[in-house]
Amino acid sequence: MKRLIIFASGTGSNFAALAAHYAASPLAQIVALVCDHADAPVLAKAEAAGIPTLTVDYKAYPTKRAAEQAIVAMLPPADLLILAGFMRIIGPTLLAAYPDRIINLHPALLPSFPGRTGIEDAYAYGVKVTGVTVHVVDAGIDSGRILAQVPVAVLPHMSCADLATAIHAVEHRLLPTTVDRLIEEGAI
Ligand code: GRF
Repeated sequence: MKRLIIFASGTGSNFAALAAHYAASPLAQIVALVCDHADAPVLAKAEAAGIPTLTVDYKAYPTKRAAEQAIVAMLPPADLLILAGFMRIIGPTLLAAYPDRIINLHPALLPSFPGRTGIEDAYAYGVKVTGVTVHVVDAGIDSGRILAQVPVAVLPHMSCADLATAIHAVEHRLLPTTVDRLIEEGAI
């Protein structure tokens, strides 16, 4: 049974999808949620699912390095860290503590539209196909090795909100599926 830690900053719909998937999975269990906002809705979702939470106030630390050292010291043992809407760039301290063991969900087809507003940027550009990417986290921004991608069509008359809904529906399936595949392939 692999041990997963989820990092999330906000709504937590992907956290909820992972929690539902792994509640009854023989492959893995979620052992903690790390959140960087004390008022994020994802915290209540974790509490409802009985998953321990760790809320980290980055501003309480002098540097990102100090915050990440505190996180590393507090985390339970884990096989994989999953960034599911965690709106911070992971620094060298966490990367070194979990080499090749941190993955991220991105709401566009990387390397197109990296950054925080991948859905909006793709919509504004006018692409006819965008999608969802799961990738390994490295020192860059949304630049690590791609593990999985699924396209999402931008249909005529779709609003940006419609596109976001379509993207999120794909995300909720792709992230647990990709983690399962990594476990089944022996990659983690
Ligand atoms: C997702 O679209 C994810 O791709 C992006 O942040 C969003 C998080 O949504 N990195 P939620 O908090 O899981 O609902």
